[in-house]
Amino acid sequence: MSVAERLTLVAATANPDKLAEIEAILAESGGVELLARPKEVADVEETGETLEENARLKAVAIAEATGRPALADDTGIEVEALGGAPGVYAARYAGESATYADNVRKLLADLSSLPDAGGARRARFRTVAMVRFPDGREIWREGTVEGTIASRARGASGFGYDPVFVPDEGDGRSFAEMTPAEKHAVSHRGRAFRALAEALCLSGLAGDGAMR
Ligand code: IMP
Repeated sequence: MSVAERLTLVAATANPDKLAEIEAILAESGGVELLARPKEVADVEETGETLEENARLKAVAIAEATGRPALADDTGIEVEALGGAPGVYAARYAGESATYADNVRKLLADLSSLPDAGGARRARFRTVAMVRFPDGREIWREGTVEGTIASRARGASGFGYDPVFVPDEGDGRSFAEMTPAEKHAVSHRGRAFRALAEALCLSGLAGDGAMR
């Protein structure tokens, strides 16, 4: 298959931080071309109780509105000491219109009594990445990364909870202290989208079967 036969997907996310990461990760894999989410399509309410349900709600809305295959993802952060919260409600942890900084502040406050050492602050990010075709077929993959919640925010790159998430597969820096490539190499989103791109490639829907 030639590059001209690459699979074209419409991005369901309106979040520029997530879109930039997804574009960078898919560029590594090749085989997929991404179109921006049409501005006229209304935002989808994320009423699902799982990442998969929310990814599907977003993907179906875009596939139906555009008549093209859509690419959606949903991410949660599960903190063990909080029984898995914020989980799927990560964007709204500090309230309906919470900013990234509000959510980070609340998380640090909620964990303030827990020591840095001994595994008390363990957490994981989980992402579901999904392609949904207008005829109802879908393919999705999940990616996770294990780590700990730092006791204070560190670093200025990335977004969301990145300043307080320290992946196990690293040197102690938070995601916000890493370059984008360092983050994507081990991140939930990197893993989910690389697996999805590979599945699309293996199923003959994208690329030439030889992923870069
Ligand atoms: P969404 O539902 O996939 O849009 O993600 C929910 C929330 O999780 C976002 O608003 C961010 O606060 C957070 N989040 C998602 N992905 C990341 C990430 O890669 N790093 C840090 N925070 C993230």
